[in-house]
Amino acid sequence: MDLTTTYLGLPLKNPLVTSACSLTGTPEGVRKLEAAGFAAVVVRSIFEEDLARIGDAHLANLQAIRAAATIPVIASVNCRAHASWESFARQIESTGVAALELNLYDIPVDPTESSAQIEARQLDLVRQVVAATRLPVTVKISPFYTALIPFCLALQQAGAKGLVLFNRFMQPDINTETGQLRYNVNFSVSKDMLLPLRWTAILRDQLTLDIALTGGIHTVDDAVQAILVGATVLAPCSVLYQRPEANPAGELLDGLRHWLARKGHQQISECRGAMRNTNFGDRTGFERAHYMKTLSSVK
Ligand SMILES: Cc1cc2nc3c(=O)[nH]c(=O)nc-3n(C[C@H](O)[C@H](O)[C@H](O)COP(=O)(O)O)c2cc1C
Repeated sequence: MDLTTTYLGLPLKNPLVTSACSLTGTPEGVRKLEAAGFAAVVVRSIFEEDLARIGDAHLANLQAIRAAATIPVIASVNCRAHASWESFARQIESTGVAALELNLYDIPVDPTESSAQIEARQLDLVRQVVAATRLPVTVKISPFYTALIPFCLALQQAGAKGLVLFNRFMQPDINTETGQLRYNVNFSVSKDMLLPLRWTAILRDQLTLDIALTGGIHTVDDAVQAILVGATVLAPCSVLYQRPEANPAGELLDGLRHWLARKGHQQISECRGAMRNTNFGDRTGFERAHYMKTLSSVK
């Protein structure tokens, strides 16, 4: 069964990419993920706030990770303003990583900045980073844009070679006894994939760039659905923390191979995008909310 996939111009042995997280932050961690079957890894992000403090150490770590892995290593930076990212993008390139993921994780809380200004700022940043490096650049976004399709089209025009759908915010809640905020890591469940699933199905028709689906990939059925709506690669994370004793990557890959064989395919590319939005005659498969239909089905 041929699972080979091309992502950001990189030939991958299969469509599984470890999403950015602490597991990808060390050479040993990445070696384990490679042995488990992942075709590429995204190293945990370096945050703009940490650049001055640990920028050099991060570059050295990227170099060590790259030297330890035979699969492509993708660096990730979390940025808001673009002042220092241009030169840092060039330095990242010199570590030998294969691509750069821009993580636009940002809570827009400035009451004077409009949605148009936020988008313009983010597009400007992508343009500048793309101009500063020869690495393919992919952009990880949140789902919270007023009009996602035009924004993603603009990202493509700005030179992004991929989109990562979607970033998940780590949202604090409140300990009602102590009055303190609790910063929990809220791991996902399969149902969290419904949002990136819908938007991958819709955006797949509108964009030529690659789409990495992240968020809620836990089971083989999740992985198959993500491929059917047109995801180029699948980027799980939570399941690796939740089932450390198992080998989720191996299970997902075996399951994908079995499903493809049962459906008479020889290559994963034969069914990628088979259920994207345009393949529904009236385009209402994913576009319409089906609110009335769904609600009225509950007796
Ligand atoms: C412990 C942990 C650390 C993470 N660190 C990063 C990070 O450094 N950069 C990033 O872009 N996303 C980070 N994420 C988000 C994941 O890469 C992923 O996109 C998200 O968790 C959705 O996938 P999942 O539902 O399979 O967990 C992190 C997630 C977890 C759970």
